[in-house]
Amino acid sequence: MTITTMETRGTVVFPDDFVWGAATASYQIEGAAKEDGRGPSIWDTFSATPGKVREGDTGEVACDHYHRYRDDVALMKDLGLNAYRFSVAWPRIQPTGSGAANQAGLAFYDRLVDALLDAGITPYVTLYHWDLPQTLEDLGGWTSRDTAYRFADYAAIVHDRLGDRVSHWTTLNEPWVSAFLGYGNGVHAPGRTSAHDALRAAHHLLLGHGLAARALRAADAEEIMLVVNSAPVLTPAQVNDPAAAVSAADAAAADRVHALLTRQFLDPALLGRYPAEVLEAAGRNGGTAHILDGDLEIINAPIDLVGINYYNPCVVEDGPGLPADAAWPGSEGVRFASAEAPVTAMGWPIVPSGLSRLLVRLSSDYPRVGLMVTENGAAFDDVVEDGRVHDGARLAYLEGHLRAAHAAIAQGADLRGYLVWSLLDNFEWAEGYGRRFGVVHVDYTTQARTPKDSALWYRDVITRNGL
Ligand code: NOJ
Repeated sequence: MTITTMETRGTVVFPDDFVWGAATASYQIEGAAKEDGRGPSIWDTFSATPGKVREGDTGEVACDHYHRYRDDVALMKDLGLNAYRFSVAWPRIQPTGSGAANQAGLAFYDRLVDALLDAGITPYVTLYHWDLPQTLEDLGGWTSRDTAYRFADYAAIVHDRLGDRVSHWTTLNEPWVSAFLGYGNGVHAPGRTSAHDALRAAHHLLLGHGLAARALRAADAEEIMLVVNSAPVLTPAQVNDPAAAVSAADAAAADRVHALLTRQFLDPALLGRYPAEVLEAAGRNGGTAHILDGDLEIINAPIDLVGINYYNPCVVEDGPGLPADAAWPGSEGVRFASAEAPVTAMGWPIVPSGLSRLLVRLSSDYPRVGLMVTENGAAFDDVVEDGRVHDGARLAYLEGHLRAAHAAIAQGADLRGYLVWSLLDNFEWAEGYGRRFGVVHVDYTTQARTPKDSALWYRDVITRNGL
């Protein structure tokens, strides 16, 4: 693969039908955690557990979007978004994760979809962005095979209600994070810490994806997407010089991590097989008995798009870097290194060229699906001054990544759209409200929304369809 020089200045224009939008997720913005029959999710339980989330923050109120969605849609319209990616909270639809639908929960998403369509904004619905009904977790959560079947039932219920107006469906958001941070190192809900559980959860998430994709297809869903957190795996030298020489040992370490991060999900979903590295890791961590005959055929259900959430590259080298936790079973013999690059408030290195590299590779590895950047963005310590937020660092981050996305298209990547993370500052999981990713600032005391400079700039990008 060759990476051509990135366009760092000058005009770039995106394809005519390129989709521009923003993304959020239910637990991160909705609040109204106990309203209209919503049941508890694993994130309610986890965030109420002392020590799990910074400052003891919870999603109980969040951005109060459940009550303010009309204003938020008006804001999206002002910003000129043509797409909005949001997730449905499973425990609003099925408070205990199975059985009859809660009509009041469905009615909220009905109203939201109608408001979006009235505003000329295309809804992109994600069915699972991490808020598993607590009752299902009590029955084993994603380590239980049954959860996959419950997920497909729930997907069918939501499609049945919204499918007349929604064409764009995503099954899962970032199954790697659900499995390995939720069940592996316990940094996310439900906070379990077992490599075996994490590997089982990963498989059952994939099975749930396949079953839901089948159910959606049977109901004539127009477009089905799986969203993964993916990243190019680079050596420290490649961070600043994509063409840097790589030793055979470092290349092997990078290939191994790519298999564990990205191919673990995309190979089964798109090619119908697991990478050998994943099967080996499972073999050494409790076995593969949870992978039944026929599962891969279900998981390989045809889909249309893969969504990529990209924030930063993964930087590794060969070395005795046995991971200290169970988030990376199989990565023994890989040293996770730091990059020489500026960082965001999350401490994540800013490497826009990584996005080009990733999109070009995925387009060539999986040529039958289109790609969409379903999340990209950055947290910075923003301040409101005289009603403005001068978030030049975020603006520069977004500009660099849009140029990188454009460079990937120029190199043949089949990239269909770009959704910024996030529309609003919101509940950043274990980091709570202290990390602001929004292009719109949220004052959590008054719930006032203030578009940051990056939002006003993004509006112009959308109008021009380019930079
Ligand atoms: C990916 C997740 O999908 C989203 O929920 C999260 O807020 C962002 N990454 C930033 O960490």
